[in-house]
Amino acid sequence: MVTGGGSGIGKAVAARLRKDGYQVAVFDIAPSGGELEYKVDVTDRAQVDADWGRIVNISSSSTHSGQPFMSSYVAAKSGVNGLTKSLALEYGPQGITVNAVPPGFVNTPMLRRAEGKGLLGGSIEEHIERTPVRRAGRPEDIAAACSFLIREEAGYITGQILGVNGGRNT
Ligand SMILES: NC(=O)c1ccc[n+]([C@@H]2O[C@H](COP(=O)([O-])OP(=O)(O)OC[C@H]3O[C@@H](n4cnc5c(N)ncnc54)[C@H](O)[C@@H]3O)[C@@H](O)[C@H]2O)c1
Repeated sequence: MVTGGGSGIGKAVAARLRKDGYQVAVFDIAPSGGELEYKVDVTDRAQVDADWGRIVNISSSSTHSGQPFMSSYVAAKSGVNGLTKSLALEYGPQGITVNAVPPGFVNTPMLRRAEGKGLLGGSIEEHIERTPVRRAGRPEDIAAACSFLIREEAGYITGQILGVNGGRNT
């Protein structure tokens, strides 16, 4: 089940997992109309069913670097990393792994909105020049990390924060 799978990174994660052969449901407040997409607000507990097996939380590379004028966002995303580590300890004995992927600079509607509001401290092109791999991230980059972490063979990897950021944060 992919939350926020109607756009950007979540949409690419859902597409990749379908390609990998999984049956994928999407929960989004604005679903894009695909099969097994449900209109669900994940902040409303009653609308959310229980998770199982493999959990991958999406946090943010801003938890490594900080981000000016986004302190509440960075604090909340840092909480996601902490939640990941604690839940990994709680659920490990049941065979449930919990990991986090903090994306960095992935070209999605969210990043373009942030650029429009002047929150990036420069244009996307300027950031690309400062990125070691010299490109912006693609939603598919995050999807590939998720695809790996939910495999059965990844069962010994839990409580980890796997940065996918083109080398911007090490
Ligand atoms: N794009 C980046 O560079 C970047 C960097 C760091 C972290 N992230 C994180 O990656 C995740 C995805 O970001 P994105 O760039 O794909 O954004 P996006 O805006 O393209 O997509 C977000 C999706 O989440 C859905 N959504 C929002 N609130 C919801 C709710 N309460 N219930 C259900 N669905 C809801 C939206 O309708 C949308 O489809 C976010 O957690 C974001 O903080 C992104």
